[in-house]
Amino acid sequence: MRNTSKKHLDNYTFNRQYSTCKPNITTEILNGLLSVPKHLSPKFFYDQKGSELFEKITNQPEYYVTRKEISILQTNCNDIANTITKTPQHNISLLELGSGNSTKVQILLETLRPNTYIPIDISETFLKENTLKLTDAFPWLNIHAISADYCHALPSLPPNLGKKVAFFPGSSIGNFEPAATLSFLKNIAKWIEPTGGLLIGVDLIKSQETLNLAYNDLDGVTAAFNLNILCHINRLTQAGFKPHQFKHKAFFNNAASRIEMHLESTIEQSSVINNQTITFKAGESIHTENSYKYSIDSFSHLAKQAGLKPVKVWTDSENWFSVHYLESI
Ligand code: TRP
Repeated sequence: MRNTSKKHLDNYTFNRQYSTCKPNITTEILNGLLSVPKHLSPKFFYDQKGSELFEKITNQPEYYVTRKEISILQTNCNDIANTITKTPQHNISLLELGSGNSTKVQILLETLRPNTYIPIDISETFLKENTLKLTDAFPWLNIHAISADYCHALPSLPPNLGKKVAFFPGSSIGNFEPAATLSFLKNIAKWIEPTGGLLIGVDLIKSQETLNLAYNDLDGVTAAFNLNILCHINRLTQAGFKPHQFKHKAFFNNAASRIEMHLESTIEQSSVINNQTITFKAGESIHTENSYKYSIDSFSHLAKQAGLKPVKVWTDSENWFSVHYLESI
């Protein structure tokens, strides 16, 4: 290690927490592809390339989610910090689920001034690369990075964190199925007990045209992101999928209040994983992800059911996106 970077790295630790009891990856992938309809877990989006493509999605003009959330955080960062620190606490830890490139948290760090920042992300190289950069910009901050699949189990935390404030931006909560959303929120409520809070970004129901465009950007970045899951699966299982024989499809399902993402087979084809053949008819698709959209009331209701008390909500002027602060009851 070079001397120049050493001084700040005293404030940086890294930790990997993958559950040892998680099912065999090939079995998990096969089970999804042999189901009717076929599906794949969205966690397979996030290899290095997928994380990079996702970052590109967030910069697409049609993808309003990131822009709106950032503007809400920027406009309200003082009020957010005041709301979180209403009960005087001299030790706050900010725990970010799916920290990605850690852009959003940087808006909060100066006003909130937590002692510790715990970024958690499934992509280990991406996590290290992005959080190490923060050590220079925030030399006063302890950073404890954890590489973990937080959807599977929330990672265990070091002791003495003071008030634990979970930060879950990007409407990633929308990517959970309804039943899983409730149990995930319940787990967070337990994780941050007894004095903690949750600052969470939630995308709102809006015109179908705006929603459909956001997941069908003209440059095809979301399409490339969706198709990249097949490249990742090929590496994990030698399935030999040919991504050019599939087509990205995303649309708003009004009845279920969700954007659905699919990969549609353009021809009749088959692939083999572990001696099991997966056949596709032309037009048959793999369901890769859902992105649920809420109203402020429907989300607050869900949070209450999970044992979290709604404290305050911030939105943008068009009411496209919301940031909720909730506390453990
Ligand atoms: N949670 C965000 C959303 O649903 C980001 C996201 C997750 C996303 N997976 C995606 C965006 C796939 C586009 C495509 O919008």
